[in-house]
Amino acid sequence: MSEPLIVIENLQKSFIHMGSRLDVLRGIDLVIDQGEVLAIVGPSGAGKSTLLHCIGTLDLPTSGRIKLAGEHLVGLPSARLAAIRNRTIGFVFQFHHLLPEFNALENVMMPGLIQGKSRKEMEGPATALLTEVGLAHRVTHRPGELSGGEQQRVALARALVLSPKLLLADEPTGNLDSSTSKAMHELFFEINRKHGTTIVVVTHNPSFAESMPRMVTVTDGKIESDVRRGHSPFEAERAKAAEASAEAPAAEA
Ligand SMILES: Nc1ncnc2c1ncn2[C@@H]1O[C@H](COP(=O)(O)OP(=O)(O)OP(=O)(O)O)[C@@H](O)[C@H]1O
Ligand SMILES: [Mg+2]
Repeated sequence: MSEPLIVIENLQKSFIHMGSRLDVLRGIDLVIDQGEVLAIVGPSGAGKSTLLHCIGTLDLPTSGRIKLAGEHLVGLPSARLAAIRNRTIGFVFQFHHLLPEFNALENVMMPGLIQGKSRKEMEGPATALLTEVGLAHRVTHRPGELSGGEQQRVALARALVLSPKLLLADEPTGNLDSSTSKAMHELFFEINRKHGTTIVVVTHNPSFAESMPRMVTVTDGKIESDVRRGHSPFEAERAKAAEASAEAPAAEA
């Protein structure tokens, strides 16, 4: 079994607000394996986004440890954190934050262009991902010329364009209608199956959360429950392949 992708130990995060301390994360322990897909649920204000931001190196915990892909994050200089973030993590937020003056293809290529890769280098992977999310026919549209669901799919393609090991999504379908949300949810499973991406999604959508192989409930800054119901599509395929290869020599004997 390979090492877990994320190991979180006794994670605490407090904010100082108007002179008093607000303890938002109060001792979170969580281990996430490579290739898992899980939902983080819980009431508003429970600390879900804060937890996601700490995992994603967008925010610093007050104490505790986070190990991501074998590396301890806490205490690393910000340049190193930025490098880890660029190489390992893709983000999708409730509001997609696409750049309005660039078209869909350019938005998806952008993380690579920022890293100094050429347009020529990025065009292939960006086009392939836009095709994968069903937008091959909209590559030259700017965000203002796309529907909400289409914009969210562009944001997903953008998050995946540098092949991150980890995709973090914070209410990615919070502003979409139910059938568009459902299509987006299917896409998460498809991405996991195809690329083995580990996916952590904060959601208020009960049916999406219920459809997940693992659901972690955060209440008042702590993990209230952590329920595994099965395998992610990637884990299921990996298990099937392992089973088949274990059976093969026996069949020959
Ligand atoms: N920078 C900050 N300064 C002070 N308090 C903060 C800050 N950021 C978040 N909080 C507080 O921390 C608590 C947890 O916030 P967080 O955004 O993690 O909640 P959440 O579980 O994502 O909620 P929601 O479901 O509404 O998005 C909230 O009560 C919020 O007011
Ligand atoms: Mg939130």
